[in-house]
Amino acid sequence: MELLVPLLLVLCTSVAGQVNPVPARAGFPHEYPGIPNGSFSPAWQSYYEVTDSLPNVTFSLPHSYAGSIPVNRPGHPNDTLFFWGFDRQGANGSLANASSTDPWLLWLNGGPGSSSMIGLFTEHGPIHVLANNTLVPNGFSWTNLVDAIYVDQPVGTGFSTADATGFIADEDQMADDFLGFLSNLVKIFPGLSTRPLYLTGESYAGTYIPYITKGIFSTPNPPVNLRKIAIGDGAIGSLSVFEELPALNVIETYPQIINYDPDVFNYFKEQEHLCGFDLNLTYPQQGGNFPTLNIVEPSEGSASFVQLFATGRKSWLQTIANKYYAQSSASGLESRDLTPEVRLEKREQWKRDLTGRANGTIDPFYGCFLFDEITDYAVNFSFPWNQGEFDVYDIPDGTGPEPNLDPFVFLNDNQTRAALHAPTSVDWEYSVNYPFGPADNSSPNEFGDPSVEPMAFLTELASNASARNVSMVFYSGNDDSLVNHRGTEVVIQNMTFGGIQGFTRPPSTPWFNDDGSFAGIVHQERNVTYVLFQGAGHLVAQWQPAAALTFLRDFVLGSNETGLVTGSTVVGGENATFANDVLPGGNEFFFGSSSTAGTTTVPLATQQSWASFLATAIATSSQSGSASTPSQSGNSARSIVANMPITLVAMSVAVLIVSLL
Ligand SMILES: *[C@@H]1O[C@H](CO)[C@@H](O)[C@H](O)[C@H]1NC(C)=O
Ligand SMILES: *[C@@H]1O[C@H](CO)[C@@H](O)[C@H](O)[C@H]1NC(C)=O
Ligand SMILES: *[C@@H]1O[C@H](CO)[C@@H](O)[C@H](O)[C@H]1NC(C)=O
Ligand SMILES: *[C@@H]1O[C@H](CO)[C@@H](O)[C@H](O)[C@H]1NC(C)=O
Ligand SMILES: *[C@@H]1O[C@H](CO)[C@@H](O)[C@H](O)[C@H]1NC(C)=O
Ligand SMILES: *[C@@H]1O[C@H](CO)[C@@H](O)[C@H](O)[C@H]1NC(C)=O
Ligand SMILES: *[C@@H]1O[C@H](CO)[C@@H](O)[C@H](O)[C@H]1NC(C)=O
Ligand SMILES: *[C@@H]1O[C@H](CO)[C@@H](O)[C@H](O)[C@H]1NC(C)=O
Ligand SMILES: *[C@@H]1O[C@H](CO)[C@@H](O)[C@H](O)[C@H]1NC(C)=O
Ligand SMILES: *[C@@H]1O[C@H](CO)[C@@H](O)[C@H](O)[C@H]1NC(C)=O
Ligand SMILES: *[C@@H]1O[C@H](CO)[C@@H](O)[C@H](O)[C@H]1NC(C)=O
Ligand SMILES: *[C@@H]1O[C@H](CO)[C@@H](O)[C@H](O)[C@H]1NC(C)=O
Repeated sequence: MELLVPLLLVLCTSVAGQVNPVPARAGFPHEYPGIPNGSFSPAWQSYYEVTDSLPNVTFSLPHSYAGSIPVNRPGHPNDTLFFWGFDRQGANGSLANASSTDPWLLWLNGGPGSSSMIGLFTEHGPIHVLANNTLVPNGFSWTNLVDAIYVDQPVGTGFSTADATGFIADEDQMADDFLGFLSNLVKIFPGLSTRPLYLTGESYAGTYIPYITKGIFSTPNPPVNLRKIAIGDGAIGSLSVFEELPALNVIETYPQIINYDPDVFNYFKEQEHLCGFDLNLTYPQQGGNFPTLNIVEPSEGSASFVQLFATGRKSWLQTIANKYYAQSSASGLESRDLTPEVRLEKREQWKRDLTGRANGTIDPFYGCFLFDEITDYAVNFSFPWNQGEFDVYDIPDGTGPEPNLDPFVFLNDNQTRAALHAPTSVDWEYSVNYPFGPADNSSPNEFGDPSVEPMAFLTELASNASARNVSMVFYSGNDDSLVNHRGTEVVIQNMTFGGIQGFTRPPSTPWFNDDGSFAGIVHQERNVTYVLFQGAGHLVAQWQPAAALTFLRDFVLGSNETGLVTGSTVVGGENATFANDVLPGGNEFFFGSSSTAGTTTVPLATQQSWASFLATAIATSSQSGSASTPSQSGNSARSIVANMPITLVAMSVAVLIVSLL
């Protein structure tokens, strides 16, 4: 569904039961009967209105509009964006109301190449799809609070069409297209040009949204009135920052990943340091901007291996997988039918490999792809992931395959297409392998995107945002390992806003669900809000729908001051247990095939032993700053681990293609 293992944010076979993203194809919009004559105007509302019945929708939906709208790119009349926009529940007519002053919201998924229908059908839209293709209403739909428009973009994504040479070349073109779409949209719904706009999205939309915002700021008379942007689990920094840098944070959140093994923890801690990923976040931030972090590439392997790596991460991942397979075959580690004793012995050999390298050198096999390394470790050695898959989007979920929540059947049904005025020239796809068009740039990122990451211009953007009263919200699901929240905190501490770099106090204020239960951490300073959700994966609203709706009401649409720094105090107080950048994950893990067959809970003794080891490890390393050798407490933690339900040495090949949904 989203970004994944080494590469992308969008889909992963192993993770979501999705097939690999298909290549994007050229398409064109379909003209349905009743298309108005002349250019866009409110007369087009009746064309886009969704009036025909939708198959399997047996419940009432908010009044809505859907269809294809051109992006106005010269020479590319078939380049369109597909939208499905809903009136706020109970406010039939709100999108069409030209004199409304109510807020409205745009939602974008990531990828690059993931459809925003993912957000609609699996997160916070009014319709949810189940694994058996049944459709059900979503009681926590964001449309309960606001007019919401879900837009497939860039062109060529989902139901949005592009001609064969019309895919975006880079993010500036993406933003131009999006503004072209908006300029047409507001001709159809004139009220939207002045109503406060909340531009929201997740994952690779963490790249889209800053570029669109930059585009709006640099347009003399922008078509919309941007009020706030909100980015969830976003790809805002470079791949090194959002995916590889936080690897140790992922382990600290869920030490089950390394079987609570102190040796392995020390190994990863040293790798983190050697890779320069152990940035020190201070409040206020000292020492100016963080340096650019380049990922040290693997050096071990044949020339062809290194060459493959140089030509693209995807093939590199495949190479890694092959290499693992070869290694496991050679050593016999792949056998699942070894006796437990032999498995233990093999595992100790593997561990010696790990610890033996922890001597001041970057592991030549992985380089600084630490995230990939921990996922490989988990699927090989750690329960429950060695039973199924490691869901990079939701760590505690070891089921494999997972229930497949995919509106493919519904959206591609002819009756649905006609009701939604969708194209018939191409099928809707959950995620496509996005082909950035010909661009004069030879150094694309891992997703093929030639544009620089938003971090590079975020300070300038924040300054323009302040001048225009546009606020920024960054939120994260604590169970997301692909785009872990620490990367987002690095981005915030590396950005200057309101004249100061980063937050001046560590995020440590709890916020609560409407039923009073703990929802996570919130921090607000100088019109930047950061929210961490407990118990949520990459697709935050899928895992915590009630909390996500409260978040939308209070921190996006509203101005709830919980977590706001005011002088020397913080509204809602600060709790030191949250101030160290790690919110411990749950102690329950799920496994099963296609559905949850069981759960396992970490014994309390293991948790306690680990906590004491960690206290020592962190104290030690902050004194010495170098890798520690296994300590006394480490050994005691290890002895506890023997009680864990570890199923050892299932030497499977990690599934490596993931996208940033
Ligand atoms: C468009 O114009 C044609 C004649 O030029 C007319 O027959 C048709 O009804 C018009 N369509 C709409 C939707 O007004
Ligand atoms: C919304 O209002 C339109 C008329 O403006 C009406 O045709 C439609 O049935 C209403 N839909 C709902 C869901 O109330
Ligand atoms: C689809 O799945 C849901 C949830 O598991 C179940 O309640 C429903 O009965 C299923 N419907 C069909 C038609 O199988
Ligand atoms: C746009 O789509 C139409 C079909 O509706 C096709 O005939 C035309 O060649 C396409 N134009 C381009 C530039 O691809
Ligand atoms: C920090 O910001 C600077 C200036 O924008 C940028 O050059 C650098 O790459 C950033 N560092 C990280 C770790 O994102
Ligand atoms: C460092 O290397 C030596 C010799 O290769 C090995 O005996 C030792 O275990 C290593 N140390 C660690 C912490 O891995
Ligand atoms: C309608 O739902 C059923 C299961 O309830 C499913 O088998 C069928 O594929 C669905 N059809 C569409 C068009 O969504
Ligand atoms: C759906 O429409 C397409 C033409 O757009 C047609 O080829 C196909 O047979 C239709 N499918 C069904 C099930 O009617
Ligand atoms: C702010 O949000 C919190 C939830 O975190 C809630 O308990 C509180 O009532 C809200 N305050 C106001 C003024 O809305
Ligand atoms: C934050 O936004 C408010 C208006 O919403 C504005 O008055 C204030 O100056 C902003 N603060 C900073 C530091 O930009
Ligand atoms: C701080 O948070 C912890 C963990 O939720 C909780 O046990 C503790 O009571 C909190 N402390 C205060 C002063 O609220
Ligand atoms: C962060 O601080 C630790 C402890 O002082 C130090 O060892 C480490 O090198 C620092 N990290 C960076 C990137 O400077």
